[in-house]
Amino acid sequence: MRRALVAGNWKMNGSRAMAHDLTAAIVAARPDKADVLLCPPTPYLGTVAAGLAGSAVMLGAQDCSEHASGAYTGEVAASMLVDSGCSHVILGHSERRQLFGDDDTRVAAKVARAHGCGLKPVLCVGETLDERRADATEAAVARQLDAVLGLDGIAAILADLVIAYEPVWAIGTGETATPAQAQAVHAFIRERVARVDAARAADMRLLYGGSVKPANAAELFAMPDIDGGLIGGASLEAEPFLAICNAAP
Ligand code: PGA
Repeated sequence: MRRALVAGNWKMNGSRAMAHDLTAAIVAARPDKADVLLCPPTPYLGTVAAGLAGSAVMLGAQDCSEHASGAYTGEVAASMLVDSGCSHVILGHSERRQLFGDDDTRVAAKVARAHGCGLKPVLCVGETLDERRADATEAAVARQLDAVLGLDGIAAILADLVIAYEPVWAIGTGETATPAQAQAVHAFIRERVARVDAARAADMRLLYGGSVKPANAAELFAMPDIDGGLIGGASLEAEPFLAICNAAP
């Protein structure tokens, strides 16, 4: 069975004090039903890394540059995230795609760069409300996936890749995909990965994200192809986040 992974995406929220206290509370609770990953804002990576020392909880970032280094003011290199203690990086989050111009090609370049630096990419895919209404969910997800599945060296990348399905209409809206809706897309994603590497597809973790809360986590995580969650709003306080971690089967 695939062990669940629950990742907290803090987005652009909090303060150093909040990052410190939230990390301490999560570490003290020793969540053990799922692997746990915290993705704080970049300036707080050091604070969270210090709080995680000696704990099994992992550290991730929310994005990185597709470039190695150089004259890219404001950008953060994947190698710097490794240096800061990150094992993972979220890439292609819908907010990056919608607000910051991260198209499929750039997201794929970021995945390649992050992996090349030793990070495990958490690749986000998902359809907009318009795409769902137009019955284009699978087409949208396939397009986002195929940009990455077509990368040179994809076999090695797949070994470290996590995919998060996040329907855009369910992010931060309180609207959750039903377990059946999410399961259907997860099965589609796994089948798409299987075309490239069937064995890896079978053991790859596919996370669901979009208004996951303590009240709906267990039924989502019980679906056969949902292996945990990418949690936004409910990851900003220890109690709901830990309840979600403990909802893993
Ligand atoms: P949400 O965000 O849990 O607040 O809907 C999830 C995400 O965007 O990763």
